[in-house]
Amino acid sequence: MIRRLDGLPPAATDQAAQLYWAAFGTKLGRLLGPEARALDLLARVIRADHALVAVTRDRPRVVGVAGFRSTAGGFMSFGQRHLAAVYGDWGGLWRSAVLRGLAGDVDNARFLIDGLAVHPDWQGQGLGSALIDALAAEARARGYERLRLDVADHNIRARALYERLGFGVVGHQRLRLLAPVFGIRGSTAMDRAV
Ligand SMILES: CC(C)(COP(=O)(O)OP(=O)(O)OC[C@H]1O[C@@H](n2cnc3c(N)ncnc32)[C@H](O)[C@@H]1OP(=O)(O)O)[C@@H](O)C(=O)NCCC(=O)NCCS
Repeated sequence: MIRRLDGLPPAATDQAAQLYWAAFGTKLGRLLGPEARALDLLARVIRADHALVAVTRDRPRVVGVAGFRSTAGGFMSFGQRHLAAVYGDWGGLWRSAVLRGLAGDVDNARFLIDGLAVHPDWQGQGLGSALIDALAAEARARGYERLRLDVADHNIRARALYERLGFGVVGHQRLRLLAPVFGIRGSTAMDRAV
């Protein structure tokens, strides 16, 4: 069942943060790790009004999360204040600079999918596709005409899924100086009509 994260109790945000970290911790570990600090930060910066989640029916548990970015903001709002609270003044400052560099790429004209992850035990059952369908409905309701996402070059499976769901390649970004920080060489931008 797909729900808006802001309609669920705070524990659901913690579960979404854990899912996000399990999926992207390898990529973000150098910047935001170790895990305990990263989870502390994610709980502070996740904006529940910019995320949809897949929830199990029996004992409610978040097993999929899809963040999005609209003109009103993104899935996470990394303020200097939050970063300093978790990593100290200097640690917060350089992380904030790196995150600002990444955010420079954001395209607000199209509705941007800002992180999609399904728990490994629940993958291959259509939840990722259902979350993208729900994101398309959310985008439509907000008046957007196109959906956009970025997929890391090595993520062949996710890219194949997006192609099956009608996304086409619209660009490629090389990470250059930041490549060693994230352990990926670059990412491909894809989009489709909502
Ligand atoms: C990418 C990701 C979100 C896809 O989620 P998912 O829930 O597995 O996606 P779906 O189940 O909708 O589709 C994936 C596969 O299941 C198949 N599938 C779809 N609906 C299905 C169903 N009802 N029953 C069985 N299989 C199904 C699809 O054909 C697809 O096949 P594949 O194994 O060749 O890829 C998930 O793999 C994930 O979290 N990966 C780690 C994080 C990540 O890479 N995120 C993307 C960053 S851009």
